[in-house]
Amino acid sequence: MMDVARSTETFAGPARKIGVFDSGVGGLTVLQAMLPRLPAAEFIYVGDTARLPYGSKSRATIARYAVSSVRFLVEQGAEFLVIACNTASALAIDEIRDAAGAVPVLGVIETGAAEAKASSTTGDVLVIATAATVESHAYAKALRGLGLRAVERACPLLVPLVEEGWIDHPVTNEVLRIYLLELLAESVEAGLDPDTLVLGCTHYPLLRGPIERALAELSPVGQSSIRVIDSAEATAERVAAALPFSSPPNIPGQITAHTTPSAPLLFFATDSVAKFRSLGTRFLGQPIEHVALVDLGG
Ligand code: DGL
Repeated sequence: MMDVARSTETFAGPARKIGVFDSGVGGLTVLQAMLPRLPAAEFIYVGDTARLPYGSKSRATIARYAVSSVRFLVEQGAEFLVIACNTASALAIDEIRDAAGAVPVLGVIETGAAEAKASSTTGDVLVIATAATVESHAYAKALRGLGLRAVERACPLLVPLVEEGWIDHPVTNEVLRIYLLELLAESVEAGLDPDTLVLGCTHYPLLRGPIERALAELSPVGQSSIRVIDSAEATAERVAAALPFSSPPNIPGQITAHTTPSAPLLFFATDSVAKFRSLGTRFLGQPIEHVALVDLGG
């Protein structure tokens, strides 16, 4: 553990460049969690909005897209990479690490699984994610490695609904109800008693409220109540622990959701910067001023 004198001294040290990547704006939920923990860091965010959704594509295509974004971040001087996309983390982490060379890479799957382990007392966990993430069974494997049982469900309609801004909307609520009903039925059939649901896509934290309400309505009587978790906060903690020189002294109550960072935030999108700005502001929870357009190829 750092003592206060050392942490104060290192707080004034040079900014560290952290590259954050997602297929779109979903990774901004992870960036939002990192900002208050890493106020001296410089963030470069790439949202590959032109090629979103990744979740319906093949492993080879996801890897090719993710690698081009990661190469771009490394060229921009990123010293640490956060893959704030479950789909890319699940299907392309090896290719991403190869492309990143000596730059450390943190994905969100292991972190999400570790959060589930910390949350679950029954040892049974539900996962909702994109089709590609579910087909890879990356979560089920990571959870099994921690001694947990899991049932996974692909929810391909949720990303377009969130992108449309239909957060607390009757259509979204009905779609959620259907997905969760099927997931709960499958988990009963498998003899599980789940007490935790992992949001295995960085778009889904925006639907946390509607998901919690639907779960409360649908959970079978007599079963454990289900806690909803995502990997954003835990990922942010891990990055802050890996880059202690960017962390402020640990003063209780100092972390707030909307701390303004001292270093700049650089945003790049591969499609409409206006759309990234308006949609991204909702995901980040604070205004996004400048977004640059970048062409990462087809
Ligand atoms: N944000 C991506 C994830 O966490 C999903 C969006 C997409 O399908 O590209 O999986």
